[in-house]
Amino acid sequence: MDSNFTTGTDGSDVTITVCPDGPLLVRGSAQLFDTDGNPLPSNRATVALCRCGRTGIAPFCDSSHKKKLRRP
Ligand code: FES
Repeated sequence: MDSNFTTGTDGSDVTITVCPDGPLLVRGSAQLFDTDGNPLPSNRATVALCRCGRTGIAPFCDSSHKKKLRRP
């Protein structure tokens, strides 16, 4: 896994970890915004952001990436 470091809203470290075939894990005091610039609730120490587009709770991961795709 790869991680990048940045500074959070409280000055502490924020890390973003890319999970292979899974979400981005954001750890720390990052403030998240939707595409309109509205803040998203983030009262958790770790937030998983969907990268696969299959989640039912966008932009957050709901583990749908673990399900196998059905082929016609
Ligand atoms: S990355 Fe987990 S549901 Fe998309």
